Amino acid sequence: MLNKILKIKYPIIQGAMANIATAEFAAAVSNCGGLGIIGTGAMNVEEARASIQKCKKLTEKPFGVNVMMMNPYTKEIMEMIAEEKVAVVTTGAGNPGIYMDMLKASGAKVFPVVPSVALAIRMERSGADALIVEGGEAGGHVGEQTTMALVPQVVDAVNIPVIAAGGVADGRGLNAALSLGAIGVQVGTCLLVADECPIHENYKLATIKAKDTDTIVTGRSLNSPVRVMKNKMTREHLRLEAEVSDREELEKLTLGALRKAVFEGDMQNGSVMMGQIAGMCKEQKPLQKILDDIMEGSKKELQNLISKHEEMSW
Ligand SMILES: Cc1cc2nc3c(=O)[nH]c(=O)nc-3n(C[C@H](O)[C@H](O)[C@H](O)COP(=O)(O)O)c2cc1C
Repeated sequence: MLNKILKIKYPIIQGAMANIATAEFAAAVSNCGGLGIIGTGAMNVEEARASIQKCKKLTEKPFGVNVMMMNPYTKEIMEMIAEEKVAVVTTGAGNPGIYMDMLKASGAKVFPVVPSVALAIRMERSGADALIVEGGEAGGHVGEQTTMALVPQVVDAVNIPVIAAGGVADGRGLNAALSLGAIGVQVGTCLLVADECPIHENYKLATIKAKDTDTIVTGRSLNSPVRVMKNKMTREHLRLEAEVSDREELEKLTLGALRKAVFEGDMQNGSVMMGQIAGMCKEQKPLQKILDDIMEGSKKELQNLISKHEEMSW
């Protein structure tokens, strides 16, 4: 299980969230028994180093760092991470193959986030220690496949451990992931409503109010799909995508849009990233309670599952 591999209490990774998963937030998750991850997003190397050093001061527990492969400073950030020696490196939106040996030599475990069986197989060949297999119901940059269909296919295709991401927010979700063959889960959306989550109050409220159908994927036609809450910006984005596919216009529209949502609380023009499971995240709670509830729910639901099996008795 993931908790044994990482020597943490719970088999739960806090998914990286650019501008949100700060050193403080990651340390808080690690102190609550999960694996906190610093989201380096578009940081430069010095900003990323300062975050890692701050996180080391705030927790003695293992934590990880996420690198978005489209960041122009990726090479320098990877070299810095190898120097700083962190427990886990996760990667998003690309292939970290060329950095694998250097990171592993530094003692880090490398968990690429993958949206398909093909990339999963490539990452295993490149030496990944485990894979975070993310379905398209997740918030943020996503692939096409659903968690339900993708996780078991990757589990069958590789020989390294799989962590399921996308659509998990309670014990039922954790049990479902384990049933599909995963050894743990990565969650993002359900942590947006944590007391400690450093997003604008409007963002937290929007997550709490969201229904199952309130998110949409923009950028599919640009090969850069992102799941966000439906708002004025997404309507405009999808209109421009359909009409002109003018990359420059679209880039203008989304420039700084995540920051608008996270820091200014602009729920109309901001990129309010959240996953489909937001519809189930109905109350603000301390981080510790969110993680404890997932684990306790998992135990309780297991009993239900056993009873259901007994009733099936064929
Ligand atoms: C607001 C937000 C920002 C995200 N930013 C990143 C990111 O910077 N890098 C990354 O690899 N994944 C990112 N993700 C994906 C999460 O790390 C995680 O895999 C995902 O949220 C799990 O699915 P869920 O949203 O259904 O819980 C983001 C997700 C959200 C909700």
